[in-house]
Amino acid sequence: MTELELIIDLHKNSVRQGPGSENDTLKALDFLNLQTSQNLKVADIGSGSGGQTILLAKNLNGHITAIDLFPEFLDELNEKSQKLGLTEKIDTLEKSMDNLSFKSEEFDLIWSEGAIYNIGFENGIKKWKDFLKVGGYLAVSEITWITQSRPNEIEEFWKSEYPEVDTAANKIKQLENNDYMLVGYFYLSQDSWIENYYKPMQARFEPFLKRHGNSELARKVVEDNQAEIDLYQKFKDYYSYGFYVARKNE
Ligand SMILES: C[S@@+](CC[C@H](N)C(=O)[O-])C[C@H]1O[C@@H](n2cnc3c(N)ncnc32)[C@H](O)[C@@H]1O
Repeated sequence: MTELELIIDLHKNSVRQGPGSENDTLKALDFLNLQTSQNLKVADIGSGSGGQTILLAKNLNGHITAIDLFPEFLDELNEKSQKLGLTEKIDTLEKSMDNLSFKSEEFDLIWSEGAIYNIGFENGIKKWKDFLKVGGYLAVSEITWITQSRPNEIEEFWKSEYPEVDTAANKIKQLENNDYMLVGYFYLSQDSWIENYYKPMQARFEPFLKRHGNSELARKVVEDNQAEIDLYQKFKDYYSYGFYVARKNE
């Protein structure tokens, strides 16, 4: 297996492939006031195995297209929606978020948790805007500084990993510069990282290593993920995922 295949394998059979929680998804949804709307058309971009997709399907009246680059995650989502009787409400689409071919103004809501960084926040909000109806909503979570200053070590790390890392004020400015109006913002709690994402991942390390005969590459994947966890533990007071909910301007 390649390193990418191993990374996918480590993240399979988990509720989420990134920090987040049911509470966070529902909190973001609450900003939208869409609970009584009918026949909504929703895209969930970078859905992974669909932790948030299932919640959206349960809480909204309409149809969701869940998009991800990797069929392994979409297969899991299809299995879950079958078990829950949600197949009428959820379709999956294997495609890159960079290369979507939806119609202009097709969606009432575009959702994306912990995934837009794959193509960059500003690029993503620009690219996806055309698919949103005027007055439609965008809900995205994105790595965000939660203090005005921070130790050099973490600043340097994130700047080299993801140069777009920034404060919420600057992310909101980007939204406004691109014809979106913010309707709500919060950032994810430490529990959404540790209890909901990192601890379940750590519990999968041992079976994962066994499955792959403790190979050098499998050990590297575990070490890399453990290093990410250690970094978060050390600097968790300085960054999180900010959840941005915005409306496309008239
Ligand atoms: C951190 S995970 C978040 C998954 C899910 N939204 C969640 O919060 O559990 C990022 C997701 O983006 C997907 N992804 C990465 N690059 C992508 C691309 N170019 N197009 C579509 N999806 C992509 C990954 O497969 C993964 O499922």
